[in-house]
Amino acid sequence: MGGTNLRVCEITLPEEKSEFDIIQSKYRMPEELKTGKSEELWEYIADCVQQFFEFHHEEETGVVPLGFTFSYPATQNYINHGILQTWTKGFDIEGVEGHDVVPMLEDAIAKRGLPIKVSALINDTTGTLIASAYTDISTKIGCIFGTGCNAAYMENVGSIPKLAHLKLDPDTSMAINCEWGAFDNEHLVLPRTAYDVKIDRDSPRPGQQAFEKMVAGLYLGEIFRLVLVDLHDNNEVNIFEGQNIERLRKPYSLDASFLSSIEEDPYENLSETQDLLLKYLDINTNRSELELIRRLTELIGTRAARLSACGIAAICKKKNIKSCHVGADGSVFNKYPHFKERNAAALREILDWPSDTRKDPIEVVASEDGSGVGAAVIAALTNQRIRDGNL
Ligand code: GLC
Repeated sequence: MGGTNLRVCEITLPEEKSEFDIIQSKYRMPEELKTGKSEELWEYIADCVQQFFEFHHEEETGVVPLGFTFSYPATQNYINHGILQTWTKGFDIEGVEGHDVVPMLEDAIAKRGLPIKVSALINDTTGTLIASAYTDISTKIGCIFGTGCNAAYMENVGSIPKLAHLKLDPDTSMAINCEWGAFDNEHLVLPRTAYDVKIDRDSPRPGQQAFEKMVAGLYLGEIFRLVLVDLHDNNEVNIFEGQNIERLRKPYSLDASFLSSIEEDPYENLSETQDLLLKYLDINTNRSELELIRRLTELIGTRAARLSACGIAAICKKKNIKSCHVGADGSVFNKYPHFKERNAAALREILDWPSDTRKDPIEVVASEDGSGVGAAVIAALTNQRIRDGNL
């Protein structure tokens, strides 16, 4: 369950490591679900699982273990358990925060009589990390640059102060979900624009996910929209003069794909940009307005890519990682033009690699559909450990 889509995947992990077979279906989460009732959410997810299961799952294999990728901050005391700390990415469903989400999903699945049991709950970043590491052992970090933005890496238990009381072997590895979207919630570090302030103030959770609100896909279109409305209303700049901009005034009416299309448009005539503004916003544009719009998308996209690189660099510095692959997934990473190059360029600057470096020592590589595969790997490992009596 991500911020925009729900995917149900059946994954077969053959004996031969580094390979997997995957069948999957993607469902768009209905907008009204995001601020609806808890029961409706779990019923919807269970319906999708049921539909998928009845269509794709043929064999009689007994109870099927499910790895639940839950892409929200959760407190976990066991692998098949996760208390939602706070909704992020515009979700605001009552009665879930502070509760373990696994029984909620399991009850909805049980009502449908499906032979499915949740074996593991993981974050999408952890899933991406594990899935990438499964096929590429040089992976040390998993990142999501999508509707939300976040990363996970492996830490030694000895470096996790809140686990000190458990007296575990300090060298045992544990995946850390950074929840870096919440970085600078105190607003002490990052320079914010008036548009960042407004996005935060008008969001369902003001004061939360400060970093995410500057970099993630959910907000890029909204930042763009707010700047244009401000330029229009502000008397010092003349744009869209004499035009009705009512459509542009609707919050969250533009998503990151709108910006992607503008950044992709050949600069010579920017005709696609002109068409988009006319078609979706009913606004006519001249050449200088088109150039301004294009520059604005470049600034917003570049800021997102460069700030995201700070997060990767921070993990590398903390863990003293000199070279590795970073498995990445998410719509912004996969589809937003120049995101990868801008992100890589910023990483080069922050980590100060010599300009003649032929291959970046830390490279962010695509791990498409990673989080589903990672959930399956962890569910399979959990079952193995139960069978072996180690859990
Ligand atoms: C938000 C969620 C986080 C998730 C990220 C990417 O930041 O809080 O758990 O990993 O979005 O989906």
